[in-house]
Amino acid sequence: MFGKRSDSDRHTGGRAMTPVPGSEIPSLAEEKRPDVVDRAPVAPAAASGKKANGEEKDGSRTAEYYSVKTTVFNALIDTIDLAQLSQVEKSVAREEIRDIVTEILSIKNVIMSISEQEELLEDICNDVLGYGPLEPLLARDDIADVMINGAHNSFIEVNGKVVKAGVQFADNAQLMNICQRIVSQVGRRVDESSPICDARLPDGSRVNVIAPPLAIDGPCLTIRKFKKDKLTLSQLVDFGSITPEGKTILEIIGRVRCNIVISGGTGSGKTTLLNCMTASIDQDERIVTCEDSAELQLQQPHVVRLETRPPNLEGEGEITMRDLVKNCLRMRPERIIVGEVRGPEAFDLLQAMNTGHDGSMGTLHSNSPREAISRLESMIMMGGFSLPSHTIREMIVGSVDVIIQASRMRDGSRKITHITEVVGMEGDVPTLQDLFVYEVTGEDKNGRIKGHHRSTGIARPKFWERAQYFNEQHRLAEALASAETGTGFGNNNQEASFV
Ligand SMILES: Nc1ncnc2c1ncn2[C@@H]1O[C@H](COP(=O)(O)OP(=O)(O)OP(=O)(O)O)[C@@H](O)[C@H]1O
Ligand SMILES: [Mg+2]
Repeated sequence: MFGKRSDSDRHTGGRAMTPVPGSEIPSLAEEKRPDVVDRAPVAPAAASGKKANGEEKDGSRTAEYYSVKTTVFNALIDTIDLAQLSQVEKSVAREEIRDIVTEILSIKNVIMSISEQEELLEDICNDVLGYGPLEPLLARDDIADVMINGAHNSFIEVNGKVVKAGVQFADNAQLMNICQRIVSQVGRRVDESSPICDARLPDGSRVNVIAPPLAIDGPCLTIRKFKKDKLTLSQLVDFGSITPEGKTILEIIGRVRCNIVISGGTGSGKTTLLNCMTASIDQDERIVTCEDSAELQLQQPHVVRLETRPPNLEGEGEITMRDLVKNCLRMRPERIIVGEVRGPEAFDLLQAMNTGHDGSMGTLHSNSPREAISRLESMIMMGGFSLPSHTIREMIVGSVDVIIQASRMRDGSRKITHITEVVGMEGDVPTLQDLFVYEVTGEDKNGRIKGHHRSTGIARPKFWERAQYFNEQHRLAEALASAETGTGFGNNNQEASFV
């Protein structure tokens, strides 16, 4: 149908083939004979220490497997018209590839069991129709991150732990090809002359590629998998990231329109938490989100989603986060949500928070609530605003109500380690007040962190009046009263060292 092959080629119907040496006619009887493997011209899984499907015991493929695959793949590419194939439905294309691969195996006298052949077919279909060895990783929903460091070194994050992925690419050229295919879908290019590229997979996963010569050992591909079912605050309670009382306090903070900064290290769960916090926003509020790569999934009906744009190849057309945040202000937003604040847009966000867009939220990279304040200050300073640092700090204190700190602990678990209020200034120093903290008490025998979330005993947070205004004061008082109180944490103990 799509082939460049001749009509005289035999149609083999997709069965496993074990050709009699010297003959082109497949022998079904031999298919079940184990000794056939020894006589095979190409026997992918013959060596000991390897699983029957061409995998090493550690899950990676054998060299023979790759050699068979390359042979078959090259023959397939010669036979098939890829442009035509890409026009048809995946299932039809798959069937076509199946027929041709079966024929190639037969013609090349490759001995394979049905399961081996299915594996090879799957692999080849992934290469031709999808993202090659990445496909099985992308299909798994339990993976948070995929990190490919060159063709032969790949890692994934599962359950908070980074482990070897056990997938391999034939070589860096194949990996680069796949990177190129990914980024070209969003109209970008990655090669030596433009070796850094951000993109998105069709399912929304965030992708970064950095290619040689910048990446010394081959192209590096990092994917933050998009979770179709975003985590909720209730799930965070189930995971022990926060207590039920902490959850109630977070819900109230979101509902009563406190301005919130979510702070945390890389991969600590900031975006997830931001998404959870947006769940408390009322249905009738107009929300504008600004992100580098759209990850948030707000459930409200009135949401405008904006995304930044990198410059084109001529270095033109860039739309920065600052442009978006500034534009937001002209869109009559009730809440502005900034996916990640990392530059001078901090100034515009703070101004928005200060000027009637209460309940705005953003995340930033930092390791503690106090550091978050300094990060905001330095981002504004680096933006070229010639304001004295006292004024910047006053602006921060006047705008941000609550800082929520997310952390990825050393055992891979994610915790909300601080819910901290920004209460004012003492001289030149912003004063912070922890409401909730996570206290590490040790480690169990499996290396898992032991600890508790504790309230610091504050009964009347600064946003109490807001809570009253939204009629949430009883729920707030109850949550604060029923939370386990800590011993060593008084007011203004922002330096508590859990992170
Ligand atoms: N409390 C949690 N418990 C378990 N898994 C979590 C938790 N929070 C986030 N995750 C998972 O951790 C991964 C990273 O989360 P997320 O994208 O929110 O981190 P991030 O801090 O925004 O990362 P980055 O700095 O790269 O933007 C996701 O797969 C997410 O589902
Ligand atoms: Mg994030």
